[in-house]
Amino acid sequence: MTQVVVSRPLHVLGIESSCDETGVALVQLPIEGRPRLLAQALHSQVDMHRAYGGVVPELASRDHIRRVLPLTRAVLAEAGVTLNALDLVAYTQGPGLAGALLVGAGVACALGCALGRPVLAVHHLEGHLLSPFLSADPPQFPFVALLVSGGHTQLMHVSGVGEYALLGETIDDAAGEAFDKSAKLLGLAYPGGPALARLAAAGDVCRFDFPRPLLHSGNLDFSFAGLKTAVRTQVLKLGDSLTPALRADIAASAQEAIVDVLARKTAAALQATGLRRLVVAGGVGANIRLRERVQADCVRQGVRVHYPELALCTDNGAMIALAAAMRVQCGQAALTSEASFSVKPRWPLVS
Ligand code: KG4
Ligand code: ZN
Repeated sequence: MTQVVVSRPLHVLGIESSCDETGVALVQLPIEGRPRLLAQALHSQVDMHRAYGGVVPELASRDHIRRVLPLTRAVLAEAGVTLNALDLVAYTQGPGLAGALLVGAGVACALGCALGRPVLAVHHLEGHLLSPFLSADPPQFPFVALLVSGGHTQLMHVSGVGEYALLGETIDDAAGEAFDKSAKLLGLAYPGGPALARLAAAGDVCRFDFPRPLLHSGNLDFSFAGLKTAVRTQVLKLGDSLTPALRADIAASAQEAIVDVLARKTAAALQATGLRRLVVAGGVGANIRLRERVQADCVRQGVRVHYPELALCTDNGAMIALAAAMRVQCGQAALTSEASFSVKPRWPLVS
């Protein structure tokens, strides 16, 4: 991979609006070395969507519109720069909710057009994948990446920026979906993943033997759809005798089933590729039990594991600005200054 030497530090603004978080961040690409985060601001729509039990796309889009400019101003103020200091504007082009994506795309392209600066469309999952490069312990290429978000569960062989080979992925629900749906069945409020993890802390992981599909499939694919059915069956079976302790046991057992499958398939991916470095990224990567288990497995296998900072596990603007900066640094950025723009609600990172 060719490293492009920039003649002066560049300021990259990143805008993330693919789902229920509006994230804006400013990353500096220095003349030499890694990009660094100068400032970031985030607004989570969780409180707004909670009443509906999940994300309402139209409300999400409208809220992104309300938040994105104040957040941009806050980021610039925190970094002590003005709009004129921006060299590049990056935005999440997909995958995600079409209307929500359009807000970030529209603002980014309008800024680029008004300032006469290039605009870079970024893949949301590439943002997650590269996010550990902003951490105090960044990885080195090549590595295996376990990407676990609300919509995706993938194992990737990552050789460099833009060099991604899919090793395996979910054939139905994503790991985050499995957390969220199990949480809902237990009566926990949206967003279910963190709530289920909290409830699980008081439960017995061995109390219920939930399914761990495709463990012996001979490939690196996942399937999580059966878990919600198993949780639903258990909740219905217990009926009125579902005590708070049993709810915690169900949460702990469900979390353990998800974590067990993720960890074992990840170990298999490391073995199959012979790689000795692992990145765990995406919202579910914030799960403490997953981190503990993967860490323990990696120590046994002599593998080094890297995570984004906890605050950068879930959606944020920093990972979008970072991915853009790293693309520029590698000479891979197709920079455009077009008056029109598009979003890609469905967009595989690897085709
Ligand atoms: O990456 P992300 O913020 O958004 C997408 O790109 O989808 O991931 C969101 C997902 C949700 O399913 C959420 O429940 C899950 O990540 N999540 C967690 C935790 N924090 C977020 N799942 C389990 N444990 C957590 N601590
Ligand atoms: Zn995400």
